[in-house]
Amino acid sequence: MIIAVDGPTASGKGTIAKRLAAHFGLPHLDTGLLYRAVGRQVALNGGDPNDADDALAACDFDDALLGDDILRSEETGGLASRVSVHPAVRDALYERQRAFALQPGGAVLDGRDIGTVIVPEAQVKLFVTASVGERARRRWQEMIDKRIGDEESLPRSVIEQDIARRDARDIGRADAPLRPASDALVIDTTSFDREQAFETVLEAVRERSGQQ
Ligand code: DC
Repeated sequence: MIIAVDGPTASGKGTIAKRLAAHFGLPHLDTGLLYRAVGRQVALNGGDPNDADDALAACDFDDALLGDDILRSEETGGLASRVSVHPAVRDALYERQRAFALQPGGAVLDGRDIGTVIVPEAQVKLFVTASVGERARRRWQEMIDKRIGDEESLPRSVIEQDIARRDARDIGRADAPLRPASDALVIDTTSFDREQAFETVLEAVRERSGQQ
């Protein structure tokens, strides 16, 4: 069983994908991490993420980088969003994602174009989303909880603007833009807590896949 989980930044798709993988005993790939590694490598190389050649050169990053916590930062997320607009970068990362998806037994992948480009034949395609305001609230709460900032140093409005900018870039790019596959199930988690979101998704996957 291949499960594709797409959606915008901070929609909760990563948590949902991880939990689905644990539930069905499948391996999971967070494809955003690959783009984050490329973004980080561009910075380490002193390159420009908007430059296609610099971004392509960063695609041969060392896999050890995937374990670096700095990949999870907002700054690296912004770099990832920039390098991901270059078709050459998307091509360079394609085979790795495809091979992961097609391994015997199946897999869960989350990202932006899993159901549309990487594995259009996936049995289950989900598009997890939530309003910009709610995604900003969740991201803000996460940062406060992790003590990355406090309520004064980290205004929610700034996070909201950043998320809206990233949405615009991910949706507006010419190659593999963020959008639900025509046969994806769109799940809006704006009014759900984590548990409700997961239960809703699990129910949908059970229905689509026939697996419990
Ligand atoms: O899911 P994330 O926030 O870690 O992704 C970071 C950026 O990487 C996102 O803004 C766009 C890009 N990305 C992509 O273009 N395609 C994917 N499958 C995953 C991420």
